[in-house]
Amino acid sequence: MAEKTIDLRPVKKIVAGYGNDKDSNLIAALQQTQDEYGYLPKQALKEVSRLMDVPLTRIFGIVTFYSQFTLIPRGRHAIKICTGTACHVKGVNDVKQKVKDQLNVVEGETTADYQFTLETVACIGTCFLAPVMMVDDRYFGKLTTDTVTDIVDRYTGDNA
Ligand code: FES
Repeated sequence: MAEKTIDLRPVKKIVAGYGNDKDSNLIAALQQTQDEYGYLPKQALKEVSRLMDVPLTRIFGIVTFYSQFTLIPRGRHAIKICTGTACHVKGVNDVKQKVKDQLNVVEGETTADYQFTLETVACIGTCFLAPVMMVDDRYFGKLTTDTVTDIVDRYTGDNA
C-alpha cells in the first residue's frame, strides 16, 4: 500500500535548525523527526537524506540499528506492560491478556485506529507497585484485570 503524502515542512525546519554541522547531528535530527511524526515515514527520511546530503542507505542503516527508531506508525498512546519478575509473580499475565483482548492486539502491535501501541518491557523500577504498566509517561500500579480496563478506557477516543 502506498504511503500517504505527508507534510515535509517540519523536516525542513528540523534540518535547518542544525545549521552547517549537519552530519554530526544526523541522529538528533532523526530523533526529532520521529518525535514530530510519531515514527519515521519514508518520505521524511528521503527529505532528511536530501537536505543533509547523507545517502539514504546510511540513514536506513542508522534507523534500523537503533531500537529507539521505528519505521512503523505508532499509536497515539504507548502502553508498556512490565513483565519483570515482581510483576510476573503478582499476576501481570492476566492483566496483559485483558489489555490484549480489550484492544485486539498482541505485543508490538498498534490498534487499527492508531490509538494504542502495546509493548512489554522488563522491570521499570517500580516493583513495589507490581503489577505495573505505563501509558505514555504515567505509571499505573497494583493493576487488576478490572482496573486495567478502566485505565485503558480513559485513554480511548478523545478522553486523553
Ligand atoms: S518487575 Fe515490574 S516494575 Fe519491577
